Amino acid sequence: MTTVSNRVAVLHGVNFDVLDRRDPGIYGGLSLAQLEAKISDWAHELKLEPIFFQTNAEGEFCEYLHRSADGLADGVIVNAGAWTHYSRAIGDALELTKLPAVEVHLSDVEAREDWRKLSVFDGLVLAKISGKGPDGYREALERLAGELGTGG
Ligand code: DQA
Repeated sequence: MTTVSNRVAVLHGVNFDVLDRRDPGIYGGLSLAQLEAKISDWAHELKLEPIFFQTNAEGEFCEYLHRSADGLADGVIVNAGAWTHYSRAIGDALELTKLPAVEVHLSDVEAREDWRKLSVFDGLVLAKISGKGPDGYREALERLAGELGTGG
């Protein structure tokens, strides 16, 4: 029997629960539910099974990564929001998963304030995709589908 490794944990960090209340000029105005619906459609097209998680608590974000490593997921998409730029704890938690991971940002973090250019995921992810809005997640899913060999 062949087992398919196609579960992708899609983690959103701090302030993503209020995505639709954040600057639409920067973040596009979608709610998190609308964003997740798009990601879900794209994932299924690629024969991937998305699992969504969002928290405003840094420790819970780390614990979800621990659970991902313990068999919950086969790959990871992380958009940790502002934690991306300073939470070494989250970087360490992603590292221990040893899962293929892609970092996504809706906005172009390279073109904004200098502090947003630093990422704790540097060297830990297959790719960092930023500034493409929701389409960045499609790209991340494509990357993971290739890595996991889902044939999607
Ligand atoms: C973000 C970029 C971060 O710098 C910011 O703190 C966010 C969202 C993005 O998706 O563009 O909360 O991760």
